[in-house]
Amino acid sequence: MDIYDKIIDLAKRRGFLWNSFELYGGAAGFFDYGPNGCSVKRNIENTWRDYYIRKEGYFEIEAPTVGIEDVYIASGHVGGFSDPLCECVECHSDFRADHLLEAAGFENAGAFSLKEIDEKIEKNNIVCSECGGKLGTAYDFNLMFKTKIGPGGGRQGYMRPETAQGMFIDFDRLLIHNRDKLPFGACQIGKSYRNEISPRQGVLRLREFTQAECEIFVDPEEKTHPEFSKYENVTLLLYPRDEQENEGNPIEMTVKEAVDSGIIAHEFLGYYVALTYDFLTEIGIDKSKLRFRQHLRDEMAHYAVDCWDAEILTERFGWVEAVGIADRTDYDLKAHSAQSKTELSVYVEFPEPVFEKRFTVRPDMAKLGPLFKGKAKQIGDLLKYMSESELLEYENKETATYDLKIENELYKVPSNLVSFGEETIKLSGKTIVPHVIEPSYGIDRITYCVLEHAFYEETLESSETSESSEISDTSEKSEKESEEDETRTVLRLKNKIAPFSVAVLPLIGKPELLKISKQIFESLVDSGLNVYYDDTGTIGKRYRRNDEIGIPYSVTIDFETIDENTVTIRDRDSMKQIRAGAQTLPEKIKEMIKTEYKIE
Ligand code: GLY
Repeated sequence: MDIYDKIIDLAKRRGFLWNSFELYGGAAGFFDYGPNGCSVKRNIENTWRDYYIRKEGYFEIEAPTVGIEDVYIASGHVGGFSDPLCECVECHSDFRADHLLEAAGFENAGAFSLKEIDEKIEKNNIVCSECGGKLGTAYDFNLMFKTKIGPGGGRQGYMRPETAQGMFIDFDRLLIHNRDKLPFGACQIGKSYRNEISPRQGVLRLREFTQAECEIFVDPEEKTHPEFSKYENVTLLLYPRDEQENEGNPIEMTVKEAVDSGIIAHEFLGYYVALTYDFLTEIGIDKSKLRFRQHLRDEMAHYAVDCWDAEILTERFGWVEAVGIADRTDYDLKAHSAQSKTELSVYVEFPEPVFEKRFTVRPDMAKLGPLFKGKAKQIGDLLKYMSESELLEYENKETATYDLKIENELYKVPSNLVSFGEETIKLSGKTIVPHVIEPSYGIDRITYCVLEHAFYEETLESSETSESSEISDTSEKSEKESEEDETRTVLRLKNKIAPFSVAVLPLIGKPELLKISKQIFESLVDSGLNVYYDDTGTIGKRYRRNDEIGIPYSVTIDFETIDENTVTIRDRDSMKQIRAGAQTLPEKIKEMIKTEYKIE
């Protein structure tokens, strides 16, 4: 078993992850979160909220997961959100054509055209890996799940392929919510759907998955981040485009160095690359297994001009893309403006008025009016938008008129009624279409990587396998689990990510211990902690179970608890114990949780 299999095995046994539809044989690309998986995922999502909503001050919204067609025509997903598909003509298995070529040794196969794919499959004699049959011609398969809204023919709908569009559609409302000012961000955590052709990477490629996305609307000319200094000295492992193209290696540098040298395009991108590093390491991603890779030019999504992926190293799948941090420019707002025929823009006031020299034409409308009556406005507008050279072109020196043709009718405008020249204009602001910086997190992949990086196995010698509380009931023989060496499996989850903060374990099932255990359990619950209660099985087995679930502390209730009102607190990682008063236990555990306290 490699580590992936071990984690999936643990995840199934301990209620983290289950195959969806298992009762009916399952379906690739779908996973259920069991009770402990739900807790870990929710803790990760709430830590994300802590960063983006509480600390960054951005706005959370919740939009429908079903979208109408206009949205995805505008976003480009109807036209261009596809992967190349190849079907076996014999057994009808489906394959991602670019993956077939990658497996055959071609690099960057995602950039090949359909024609190139067909040629390469033919030339290299690539056949169906299931039956050895011939592969059909590659074609673009749109990854969106289609649905109908309403009965009968209904209105065409799509399951959203990204949560981002919800924020773009609500842009006008969000702008008002932020008192018409830039920059601001809007976030959403929720399900997205992609009908992946042939998902073969277990929990890492899902057809229904959770995204946490933030769209930050900024002035296109102001991509310096006001709080950049907060993260500028964070050192990151960066894998820039040039290094990838020239077989170089990732480079360590600070965010400031990366922005100053132009490797990261601007402070806004740099800030969110660093914030992502902070977030991922905070939830338990091993910093030595985290890097940021810049997208190659031909790899970027249709809407992005620059994109950095946070990639996390996994044992089976290598570097896995878990977060994308992209500059989407004004692509989406302009596309939705055009599709909805609604202006999506912001009036930005300058800090100081700006004076600009402009060539201006001033037709004397008071005189042109009586002269040209119903045509006067049209003539005036035509003149106003002419350049100096155009005016000279239309000037008839002999008659001292501008000779304008409108709908084949000639109008002779006396040139003494039109003045022009450079004028100084005072501007208090400008109307702009904001650019969007988008950090987009794949929560399921992150959750898996957190489990993998927390996964730890150690061999305990027989002397270590008999764990006990300081005072134990000697009649409980089974506390000694085994006389042989044993492998202990632990999920060393961060305290804030673990499914429970603390477990309450009566040493044995005597009524007086159960009674006081329940009281201690309730006092911990009342103080706001997530508490696990377990009185089933031997104490040793319960400790091992809690280690696998990743509960950082176990509180054991024994006979000394009755006599002296004290309990033992056991540390998941070191298995060391301390004795503590039951009266002040909630405060003590809370402090230990907050400070990631280790009993050494
Ligand atoms: N919004 C970016 C993505 O879904 O990949």
